[in-house]
Parts: sequence; C-alpha cells; structure tokens
Amino acid sequence: MRLLQRRPEFVMGTLVLVLVIVLAAARTDGFAVTVGAEAAPPAAAEVSEEQPWFDLGMEVWDESCYGCHADLTYIPELFLAEDGRLYLLELMLFGVRGEVVIEGFATNLRHRPYANFEDEELSAVLNYMLVAWGNEEQLPSDPPPVFYTPEEVAAARAPERSNEEVLERRPNPWE
Ligand code: HEC
Repeated sequence: MRLLQRRPEFVMGTLVLVLVIVLAAARTDGFAVTVGAEAAPPAAAEVSEEQPWFDLGMEVWDESCYGCHADLTYIPELFLAEDGRLYLLELMLFGVRGEVVIEGFATNLRHRPYANFEDEELSAVLNYMLVAWGNEEQLPSDPPPVFYTPEEVAAARAPERSNEEVLERRPNPWE
C-alpha cells in the first residue's frame, strides 16, 4: 500500500500498459482466428487434418519442396481445370519443361520429376497441396474433390511421358 500511495502514477501506468497489450492482442489475426474457430471451425482444419495422408504429405513437402516453394495457392485452380488433375500427377512423375502461364503471367518452368518417391508419398504430397495454405476453401464440397490414391500413382507410372506430353496437358485457367 505504501507503494500505491507513493507511486500512483506507476500503478496507473502499469494498468494502461496491460490494457494496451490486451487491445493489441485482440486486434491481431491470431485472436480473431481463435474466436472464429470457437464459433464455427474453418472447413480446412476439419477435413484436411483428419485425412490419413495429411501428416505424410506435410512431411514430404517440408523435406523436399518447401526449400524452393512459397505457398502454392493456385493449385486448386489447376486441379479443377480440364486435365488439371492428371497434369499435376504427371508433373510429379515425369517433370515438366517449357513456357507456362501462372496466374496470368507467362514463365519458363523447369520442374524435376519425383518418380523416385514412393506412390504413397506422391499421392500424399499431391493431396497436401490441395488443402494446405487455405487451398481447401477453393475446393467444391458437392461433388467433393477426388483425392489422389497411391494405386492411382502406381498406375500412372507407365507409359512414361515426355516433358512435352506433360506440358501439353497443362491447363491455363487464367485465360
Ligand atoms: C529446385 C526448386 C524446386 C523444388 C525442390 C520443388 N519445386 Fe515445385 N516448383 C518450382 C518452381 C520454380 C515452380 C514454379 C512456380 C513457383 O515459382 O512457385 C514450381 C511449381 C510447382 C507446381 C505447379 C506447377 C505448374 O504447372 O504451375 C507444383 C504442383 C509443384 N511445384 C510441386 C512441387 C512438389 C510437390 C515438390 C516437392 C516434392 C516441389 N515442387 C519441389 C521449383 C521447385
């Protein structure tokens, strides 16, 4: 109490500081997401993390892809375009080389193949890209997306496709 009597401005100052911190926290996205999650959980977390491939997909991504990549938020657009689903699968198996359009911008893409990865790893990382970074919100719920399976990856390994064949299949959803 002696402190209070002698230093009321110190106590007031502390209270104001605490208030400022609480208000600042309330304004950040983190706080907003927590509040929102309690009211209505976002679809992304609900579906993706339940899937058996989610952890493996994230692991493959973190180990082998993350080093080069920013978030690939345009993957659902490619996936939903005609031939896009098959294109993404063949890109992983055979790679691609050539001029492509990414979100409206022409660029020269050279992508190595990942045929040396297990079927399960490839289907998992393909599915992971579909739902990661909030991508899931771009996927339709009715009919729901057809996620990749290891069996499907195994079946697509032969016949081997050339880079040109893979490139021909690539859609341009931004035309
Ligand atoms: C050596 C660098 C590098 C590595 C490693 C890499 N990528 Fe890429 N990838 C790129 C670049 C560059 C692009 C073009 C888009 C961009 O700049 O993000 C791209 C684009 C893609 C695309 C979209 C292709 C298109 O037609 O637009 C997919 C899908 C993809 N990468 C998946 C993967 C996955 C999965 C892995 C890991 C298994 C991986 N990449 C590892 C460099 C890399």
